[in-house]
Amino acid sequence: MKVGVIGVGYVGLVTGVCLSELGHDVFCVDCNKAKIEKLRKGVVPIYEPDLDKILKKNIKEKRIRFGMDTARMVKFADIIFICVHTPPKSNGEADLRYVEAAAREIASTMRSYKVIVDKSTVPVRTGEKVAEAIKRYNKKKLDFDVVSNPEFLREGSAIDDFFHPDRVVIGVTSKRSAKLMKELYAGIKAPTIITNIKSAEIIKHASNSFLAMKISFVNALANICELSGAHIEEVAKGMGLDSRIGEKFLNAGVGYGGSCFPKDVSAFIRISEALGYDFELLKAVEKINTNQKQLFLKKIEETLWVLGDKVIGVLGLAFKPNTDDMRNAPSIDIITALQREGAKIKAYDPKAMEVAKRLLPGVKFCKTPYEAARESDALIIMTEWDEFRELDLKKIRESMRQPIIIDGRNIFDPDKMDNEGYIYKSIGR
Ligand code: UDX
Repeated sequence: MKVGVIGVGYVGLVTGVCLSELGHDVFCVDCNKAKIEKLRKGVVPIYEPDLDKILKKNIKEKRIRFGMDTARMVKFADIIFICVHTPPKSNGEADLRYVEAAAREIASTMRSYKVIVDKSTVPVRTGEKVAEAIKRYNKKKLDFDVVSNPEFLREGSAIDDFFHPDRVVIGVTSKRSAKLMKELYAGIKAPTIITNIKSAEIIKHASNSFLAMKISFVNALANICELSGAHIEEVAKGMGLDSRIGEKFLNAGVGYGGSCFPKDVSAFIRISEALGYDFELLKAVEKINTNQKQLFLKKIEETLWVLGDKVIGVLGLAFKPNTDDMRNAPSIDIITALQREGAKIKAYDPKAMEVAKRLLPGVKFCKTPYEAARESDALIIMTEWDEFRELDLKKIRESMRQPIIIDGRNIFDPDKMDNEGYIYKSIGR
């Protein structure tokens, strides 16, 4: 099938590349010239395992191309994905100006029936608005369908999530577009649910908010465990084995970050408010997440007492492992707060340092985790990269001023760390 993609950010690029791998002809457009030029050469501007390999393969086989001319793309494609970003406004509401601009541009350049698919995360009822905009700007009154097809890709495992999703959700208003969308995803073996557009839009916000709620719940429990002497991992395991609860997303830590959860929870609160419902539960989810970072800071302060002039090594900067994404990474809040107190920061991350350099002035970026630990008064762990689990703990302990590790991701066993001679603090145990 002939597929167009507007916006080659994270979602647009993964969607375009994976659809080409499924055998479709894909044309991606974006207004960022530098990005398009890179992609034409097969260079992926973000770090996502295997994405570059699949991209290069499909460029070579001429199934994917990149450009800036949306009109040409619209002429070429039968199905057009809107994958532009929907950044939060200052009040937490999603800013839909880029979605509207994409809809207008499609409407004014289309010359035949098109399926216009919204993949960006948008408030319920956006599909209706997109359809209205297209009707208004489509002077020739051509037939079209709007579809909502939310993505559930996790950064770091986006390719696997695309090809092996738990489900494909397709919100439609016509049988014709439902048939075309099913055909588009025929290569994916997963339950596909066809819903109305509003349900599909809500499924996305509800799923991300529910997962964020799970994380805040386990983080709140971790605090109860610390206060009572219980062990959060034992508690999470005991709960998670109940299949109604499930074991996934019950890892306590310094709180969730990234480009989705913080933005989507906040947007869903605003959406509910606008509809006349006060989603108090989600407000608590947000509050617990903010508190979790404060509690982690308090833990560092309690351990080191005065932070001024202390050297603190930071392992991990990205909001989670296997990505270079720093959006809403808890490391930013923690490092900034430590610097405010006068601490000197040395940091290491396997992938995110280039991005982090622009966001964290005054930090000394190190080439290895050992360099970050050397001569430091404490080491804090902000991201659970596998590489950190394999560290030579003896070598690290001997190079530090004080053998203190404060672990925001619970990657080490407290008893083992005790035997290794560390003062080791973690979350909820
Ligand atoms: C998320 C959703 O999982 C995905 O379906 C959606 O499409 C986009 O948003 P992503 O933001 O890439 O994906 O990361 P995810 O793996 O979900 O983690 C989000 C945050 O939660 C990270 O900061 C992670 O560290 C944190 N987290 C996750 C926990 O603190 N504990 C957990 O048990 C799981």
